[in-house]
Amino acid sequence: MAVQGVMWVEKYRPRTLGDMVGQENVLGSLLAFVKKPADMPHLLFTGSPGIGKTTAAVCLSRSILGDSWRDNTLELNASDERGIGMVRERIKKFSKFVGIGDIPFKVIILDEADEMTADAQTALRRIIEDAAAYCRFIIIANNISKIIAPIQSRCAVFRFTSVPKECVTERLAEIAKSEKAKFVSEGIDTIYEYSNGDLRHAINTMQAAAALDGGINKANAKKAAGITKSSAVDEILKLALAGKVAQARDSVIELLRVYGMSGADILRNLNMAVNRASYDNAIDIVRIISEYDYRILVGASPEIQLSAMLYELGALGSK
Ligand SMILES: Nc1ncnc2c1ncn2[C@@H]1O[C@H](COP(=O)(O)OP(=O)(O)O)[C@@H](O)[C@H]1O
Ligand SMILES: [Mg+2]
Repeated sequence: MAVQGVMWVEKYRPRTLGDMVGQENVLGSLLAFVKKPADMPHLLFTGSPGIGKTTAAVCLSRSILGDSWRDNTLELNASDERGIGMVRERIKKFSKFVGIGDIPFKVIILDEADEMTADAQTALRRIIEDAAAYCRFIIIANNISKIIAPIQSRCAVFRFTSVPKECVTERLAEIAKSEKAKFVSEGIDTIYEYSNGDLRHAINTMQAAAALDGGINKANAKKAAGITKSSAVDEILKLALAGKVAQARDSVIELLRVYGMSGADILRNLNMAVNRASYDNAIDIVRIISEYDYRILVGASPEIQLSAMLYELGALGSK
């Protein structure tokens, strides 16, 4: 079930902090930094996926840095980059160049930092100190307990919370109207129930439901949510073990790019899927999964690693 054409999550990604929904506590403080950037320390944004952490980081940078925000903002995905060496080089280069325009500092957004190893984070801590004179870091982590204490203590921590029901349903209705999609409120309520306050998931589910005959109603919402994370991962495992690697890989890429799951998330879910099924060679399957979990953890590209893993599972087959 590939989502076709322009993705609503991107089309309706807020451009300003004021466009965001929920997160009132966090947004109040961030707006204070916009008024008085000199007061802004390094920031650590934490909370579950799809609730506005990356969006808030970009909006904040845009508000503080104005027209030249793009030149003065470095966005790095800690889990995408080939290890800490690459992160260091890119930050070094970026922090050295003289900022463009009249700006208080440059901004470095380090997304998915909880996917970095503790060693890489220790190196990161030095990098933060070296760059601090000219740069502010916004570090983003789904899971704060995976961020080493010395980094936590150098940042002001902002805990994002799942988006409340009224905010989700209101935003979904706005998007549906603006897309002239057919919807009933029962359909939107059903999408909310499957989303657990993950607005990215909710918007993606609604876009999928809108493409079905009858539009956004309860039945279609359920159908669209049917490709929820766990059932999608069950299917991927089955396909791979049956040797249908290309099909399995398409689904993995969809989970990574469309549903915003991280490589580690996918592997965690795959591991649970193995436990749910009863394969005679479960031990071999889990061994492969854990090998790739490690490779991704130490910084290899998730897309390439997951693809290699699917080929290995395909060669193994199920017993
Ligand atoms: N609080 C929010 N307000 C408005 N839109 C949101 C919010 N949270 C998520 N979204 C929607 O979901 C998408 C993903 O949000 P993102 O900031 O990338 O989440 P996170 O970084 O927390 O995983 C955004 O493009 C936007 O469409
Ligand atoms: Mg994010």
